Amino acid sequence: MSIYPIILTQSKFTHQDNLKYPFEERGLQFGDGIYEVIRIYHGTYYLLEEHVDRLFRSAEAIKIQLPFNKKEVTDLLLELLKKNNMTTDGKVYMQVTRGSAPRDHVFPDEVMPNIYAYVQDQVRNMEGLENGVKAITHRDIRWENCFIKSLNLLPNVLAKQTAKENGCYEAILHKDGLVTECSASNAYLVKDGKIYTHPSNNNILHGCVRMAIERFTKQLNIPLIEEGFSVEDISLADELFLSSSTSEITPIVKVDNLEIADGKPGKITRQLQQAYEVDASITENRIKHTV
Ligand SMILES: Cc1ncc(COP(=O)(O)O)c(C=O)c1O
Repeated sequence: MSIYPIILTQSKFTHQDNLKYPFEERGLQFGDGIYEVIRIYHGTYYLLEEHVDRLFRSAEAIKIQLPFNKKEVTDLLLELLKKNNMTTDGKVYMQVTRGSAPRDHVFPDEVMPNIYAYVQDQVRNMEGLENGVKAITHRDIRWENCFIKSLNLLPNVLAKQTAKENGCYEAILHKDGLVTECSASNAYLVKDGKIYTHPSNNNILHGCVRMAIERFTKQLNIPLIEEGFSVEDISLADELFLSSSTSEITPIVKVDNLEIADGKPGKITRQLQQAYEVDASITENRIKHTV
């Protein structure tokens, strides 16, 4: 089933040899791939090992055989920073797809994964970190394998867009009223000195920052309970926050136009932010802790 040579692209007709993108690519056509976003501070990766481990877990879950082992991926990522003389705060985006092959749902017999990674600057969102952000609640309509960091992000994209259209930063996702996580971050509720968050099962992405938070709570002697909280619990919360590689540990101060406690970032959130800055060796632009 060979493809006829002339391809329609936008409103122009082009010979397929001249196309700038690989149109028969499984990531593009099926979302058949995985990715990672890793934070960089002062030109150094933060939580690199955790991210590389998760990349391999995701690959295994969708039966992609990476042509590298963990050490080789780590070395390539480190080399990428060096080659770009990266010394600032930023992030790397790394994507692995099953590869390029004639379009067919079943896996191609022999195909090499397509892999790319790029680095860009990313300043810390000091305004959100200091003062907190607003969120909406939104139905979680995703599939049952959210622990895989897959390219299939349409429900996440639509939820985050709805948040933006409502003047908010994030969408807190819930399945039948039980909060799973946010559209691009993990979600936590603080009540009576204890932190509650959804268990690390198939319904959420196992965040690398969440893993760091687990460490911080042990150091700080703050109970972290892996127990989901409900949308109704939010109105009674003492504190609410989210975590991700790009958003770090960000307080949520308003949900669906309702203030959380006094509408200011809470004490436990501040303690965790402080622990994060120490762990990530952040020396500049530190959060002014006001609580
Ligand atoms: C749906 C979802 N949950 C949680 C996270 C947080 O993961 P991490 O802490 O590894 O960045 C992300 C990050 O992109 C995400 O997309």
